[in-house]
Amino acid sequence: MEFTIKTGAPEKLKTGSLVVGAFAGGMLTEAATALDKASKGKLAAILARGDLDDKAGSQLTLHELPGSNAERIVIVSLGKQDEFGDRAWRDATNTTAKVLAASPSHDAGVCLGDVAVPGRDNEWALQQLSRAIADGAYRFDATKGKSKDTKRRGARKIVLLTGNKISAGMEEAVKRGQAIAEGMALAKDLGNLPGNICTPTHLAETALELGKQYKLKVEVLEREDMEKLGMGSLLSVARGSHEPPKFVVLHYKGGKSKDKPVVLVGKGITFDTGGISLKPGAEMDEMKFDMCGAASVLGTFKAIARIALPINVVGIVPTTENMPGGAATKPGDVVTSMSGQTIEILNTDAEGRLILCDALTYAERFKPDCVIDIATLTGACVVALGKIPSGLLANDDNLARELVDCGTVSGDRAWQMPLWDEYQELLKSNFADMANIGGRYAGTITAACFLARFTKAYKWAHLDIAGTAWVSGDAKGATGRPVPLLTEFLIARSKGPQA
Ligand code: BES
Ligand code: MN
Ligand code: ZN
Repeated sequence: MEFTIKTGAPEKLKTGSLVVGAFAGGMLTEAATALDKASKGKLAAILARGDLDDKAGSQLTLHELPGSNAERIVIVSLGKQDEFGDRAWRDATNTTAKVLAASPSHDAGVCLGDVAVPGRDNEWALQQLSRAIADGAYRFDATKGKSKDTKRRGARKIVLLTGNKISAGMEEAVKRGQAIAEGMALAKDLGNLPGNICTPTHLAETALELGKQYKLKVEVLEREDMEKLGMGSLLSVARGSHEPPKFVVLHYKGGKSKDKPVVLVGKGITFDTGGISLKPGAEMDEMKFDMCGAASVLGTFKAIARIALPINVVGIVPTTENMPGGAATKPGDVVTSMSGQTIEILNTDAEGRLILCDALTYAERFKPDCVIDIATLTGACVVALGKIPSGLLANDDNLARELVDCGTVSGDRAWQMPLWDEYQELLKSNFADMANIGGRYAGTITAACFLARFTKAYKWAHLDIAGTAWVSGDAKGATGRPVPLLTEFLIARSKGPQA
């Protein structure tokens, strides 16, 4: 996809589809007003008939509007003007993206960049808009055979039309939006690939490829290396599988060499059967998405490398299958983690925390500024928060606040849950330093409490993306979240030290 920002009159642009906004009740934006004038009032007359729904994100396509050089005009509703804000803007940009992705012509003009979103600047709007359009063009057909769509519809050359003077900041905002969409696309591709293709080895190879493409140092530790490091918890999960586990470490060095890195740790269970504590059969296919935390780390690396962000970041991806097998870990088994703490595994389906804890101990060696882990960790998180925000728990409230804020700015939201000490009691074990499950209640919190026992050396936040990493049903597929949130966080961090 190619974006260019241009100044000019909307009615003059010769293009396949021209997108303009209009508020409910026929309140036209500047661009729509220009088209209306050129059409001698025809556009306003059509809207006055009520063909465009008031709801933000509704759209009406007009063909050959007099006075305009575009083949079709797409009017997107911005909703009621007094209710206009982030939400309506998002609905409008998502509709724009959908319409353009299905458009028969390959070029388009979009006149939404100048619309003033309350509390947001023009660069924010351009970043969100370009991200939505680029992300909307995403398709997954790597595993389609004869039903592969060879003649793809959709606009690929997009002109963002503005009445303002074009600034370097505007160009950068568009580049950022596009880079984030590309990072999301990588995360979605990895998530959507089935477990027989997206194995731990495949994740490691993808990381190595990223490293080659962007000149990053990438290390892949094998089972023997993990044994030497004493990663008994991670390796206990891999025992039931024939696929070799991998431990991938990526180094992005965009900052000064003395700057402490942000460390991102992503859960990479390429398929979660539950192990000996086997999951029920219904929708078990969706457990191929159990590596979406890992995918979001790789996607975020792609996004920040594309824009050469001035910051140091280390990515850690512990990855394995969770399978039942003759050698598999059994309920009641006790293992020793890299930290020396022992764990009684009461449920082999609580495997995410078992691979993360060793990765979190490994992270200490980078003397991190902060560590964020990203994991499809608990079904309880989906029960608590649904599929709107990711769950967020942290041992540092400033870090948590920063992430909540970046979630709001990016529209890829997170919501904090408590990590109070009282919950730690639920992890008591009669036979080890801790159990790997905490009983019926507060499943998302007890999972984070478990991880908190391995993150005492640094500031740490945990994102539970069980509800946000993919959607089920007709549109089943990975979402690319939380690449936008993580990238926004790193962009904010790259601008200077935090309070
Ligand atoms: N990968 C799952 C979490 C999950 C389940 C994500 C359903 C999305 C949808 C994780 O490994 C798991 O199985 N967690 C258990 C923990 C329990 C055994 C304490 C869960 O949530 O049921
Ligand atoms: Mn599990
Ligand atoms: Zn899992």
